[in-house]
Amino acid sequence: MKNPRILITEPIPQTVISHLKEFGEVTVGEKGQYNSEEALIDVLKNYDALLCMLSTPVTKKVLRSAPNLKIVANFAVGYNNIDVKTATNLDIKVANTPDVLTEACGDFAMALLMATTRNFYQAETYLREGKFKGWEPLGFLGMELRGKTLGIVGMGRIGQAFAHRAKAFGMNISYHNRSRLPKQIEEELDCSFISTTEELARQSDVLSLNCPLTSETHHLVDKDILTTMPKHAILINISRGPVVDEEALAEALHNKEIAGAGLDVFEREPEVHPRLLSAPNCTMLPHIASATFETREAIGMLAAKAIIKVFNGVPDKEISNLVTG
Ligand code: DGY
Repeated sequence: MKNPRILITEPIPQTVISHLKEFGEVTVGEKGQYNSEEALIDVLKNYDALLCMLSTPVTKKVLRSAPNLKIVANFAVGYNNIDVKTATNLDIKVANTPDVLTEACGDFAMALLMATTRNFYQAETYLREGKFKGWEPLGFLGMELRGKTLGIVGMGRIGQAFAHRAKAFGMNISYHNRSRLPKQIEEELDCSFISTTEELARQSDVLSLNCPLTSETHHLVDKDILTTMPKHAILINISRGPVVDEEALAEALHNKEIAGAGLDVFEREPEVHPRLLSAPNCTMLPHIASATFETREAIGMLAAKAIIKVFNGVPDKEISNLVTG
């Protein structure tokens, strides 16, 4: 197809927009403009391709109302916002952005772990409020990482990148995954497979969620898992908010059933549970794990290239970032 009409739901790196403009007729929405089904349904009939965000609800209703749509390229590796099964049935391709954000997310998971275990947020707030009156032997004591066990739920690319980094900090790595990693990778990472999330939660000083959001992982961390975790343990979540039952987590943090949580994602983004906001032992950030200049440009380019390849008639099996339902 010549000059396909491409909707980019909100501003992304300019290099990516320019690249797509050489290929098609590009419209860029405003921040948040297409975060509702209604807004998308209204506009999508006029487009052949959609480059959307993880906040764009590409539901069955939306897909069925877009007769010209050939491809939905998500500006994210996680694609739980897209009804991939319906898209596949309607012969609409779906692309995500694996690999390009792995290192940025691995770095970020490590940073969030450090910030949470060493009380960065609480200590910085204390300083900014003018409460720092000098070095204190008992001020803001946190958990040391060497010799502690990091339990990773979801040992895909990002889980493994986190494991590599945590290993360098002297942590022992355990993991739970749908399928066990090949022996060679387990040996390289020096990690142990644990057959259930419950057992992993019981054994871990830090429990990290790095799995996709699916019907099986929705509320995977619930009251029972939180009760199973040791009282000194920390929960880290950079996957998707609904993997955690936020109500149960807020209760566990307030009641000191676990020592703390580091969260980059939330159950009802951009809303944050008010009881999490008031929990003193919770480090929270606005879904920025992949937010580096380099990575966000690479994410955009990978999504853009999938769109271009589809309209250039490249066979599906040669587009490595297509997903099917
Ligand atoms: C993704 O790509 O799924 C991440 O959540 C972005 O930070």
